[in-house]
Amino acid sequence: MTQLGIVNEGDGETRVSATPETVGKLLALGYDVVVEKGAGSRSSCPDDQYEKAGARLVTRKVAWSSQIVMKVNAPTDDEIALLAPKTTLISLLTPALRPDLLDALAKRGVTAIALDAVPRISRAQSMDVLSSMANLAGYRAVIESAHEFGRLFTGQVTAAGKVPPAKVLVAGAGVAGLAAIGAASSMGAIVRATDPRPEVADQVRSIGGDYVAVEVEEQMTSSDGYAKATSEAYDRRAAEIYSEQARDVDIIITTALIPGRPAPKLLTAADVASMRPGSVIVDMAAGMGGNVAGSVAGKRIITDNGVVILGYTDLAGRLPQQASQLFGTNMLNLLKLLTPEKDGQLTIDFDDVVQRSVTVVQDGAVTWPPPPVQVSAAPTAGPTPVIEPKQSRQMSPLRKGILIGIGLAILFAVSAFAPEPLPQNFLVLMLSVVVGFYVIGKVHHALHTPLMSVTNAISGIVVVGAVLQLASPYLAVQILAAVGVLLASINIFGGFAVTRRMLKMFSKGSNR
Ligand code: NAI
Repeated sequence: MTQLGIVNEGDGETRVSATPETVGKLLALGYDVVVEKGAGSRSSCPDDQYEKAGARLVTRKVAWSSQIVMKVNAPTDDEIALLAPKTTLISLLTPALRPDLLDALAKRGVTAIALDAVPRISRAQSMDVLSSMANLAGYRAVIESAHEFGRLFTGQVTAAGKVPPAKVLVAGAGVAGLAAIGAASSMGAIVRATDPRPEVADQVRSIGGDYVAVEVEEQMTSSDGYAKATSEAYDRRAAEIYSEQARDVDIIITTALIPGRPAPKLLTAADVASMRPGSVIVDMAAGMGGNVAGSVAGKRIITDNGVVILGYTDLAGRLPQQASQLFGTNMLNLLKLLTPEKDGQLTIDFDDVVQRSVTVVQDGAVTWPPPPVQVSAAPTAGPTPVIEPKQSRQMSPLRKGILIGIGLAILFAVSAFAPEPLPQNFLVLMLSVVVGFYVIGKVHHALHTPLMSVTNAISGIVVVGAVLQLASPYLAVQILAAVGVLLASINIFGGFAVTRRMLKMFSKGSNR
């Protein structure tokens, strides 16, 4: 049985690579799961819960001697020394930026799987730790900024005066950016967002933000789900926009990143200096070199003009329990892929694009970088499909004339020969059919609810009329009247039911 070890991350990391919940599922894959004592203590996962889930609690040495070692962060030099040859290490490894780490792992004769090298394709989404962590981090960035800001996010009109809503600018609308936009707008702030990929505009709007487009000739599209470096013209125009926005907004959250490169510089020292005292900047990319002049990775800085710049690099870890749960689930999904037989035997299939991408070192040989994976989140180029206009069933004028003629002839015949009061009632019926057809048939969809109230009122009158006719001595009239009452009632009660459902929908929406 293959031993799978979950090791303790050590100081500065609150997360753990498996929770008691995911441990149970790893056992079901056929692994002998061992957990280093205290590994989950900072994620509210005490040792006894791992034991209850079926794992064995072991010492650090035993955990690191497993055939598969799972952890969150890349191993340190001391930790690499603990790995036995032929071990498989699964963790974050930032392979594009750490060739030294890959060499050290290769020298040790191990296989290394980088969780942060999962390609951004839909099949691999369930294993994408970068997305799951960035999502939590984006949310937490808003919470941290709200804590520092010391003012309301939402606007209020109270007896004591009017409070304007906070204005938040989110630079970079990737996973973290979108989470930040959603969190800030749900707290009531006015949220604006920038991103060189125009395809994100709709996503930004759909979660309550305004997309601030940087309009230049060049349009960036993404072929692998990640952004590419922007052009000089783009950067020039973007810099003007950031300067304008910095003077206007209260909070800026920057998340701009181009994979494998240092983070692009978006806000200059002058932009920061132009912000009002008490404003807050969260530079989420601080760990990758920073988007903001003056931000320091892992630190809280206060500038001379009283702007707080947060460069925290552990934002996801500030929600340790959920971060560990999501990380553990991503890890579990990867292991499900690598253990197709559920027999505790890890196999790596290089023909599978996901398995190829994540394997950065195999049996002591560096296998990074993998062949590029083409995925496109961009709208496809090419001719726009032409939608053929529907052939309307137009009647020829001659046919129309003949039909109108026949109708008029019937009307005159009924008026001339039918006994009283039929002609009069028939005339009213015909007129209401014509008027109803033209009035109701042309009502815009958006006005169907008020229309329903009108038809409800009409149905009410029909019910009254039909109820009066129920007293008629003729059986045929009684039956017709009963049918009239039934149909009109269906219309009325159906109308009420639909209205109630719609009101419920609106009140749910406004309670959010
Ligand atoms: P992502 O790749 O999904 O998004 C990055 C976005 O930045 C993309 O939409 C891209 O188009 C945009 N971008 C690139 N260049 C830009 C420019 N010049 N101006 C404006 N936008 C630009 O990345 P994700 O997963 O959303 O992560 C965002 C950042 O957050 C990364 O720097 C990542 O390292 C960081 N992060 C930080 C954490 C922390 O604790 N501080 C935790 C998780 C992620």
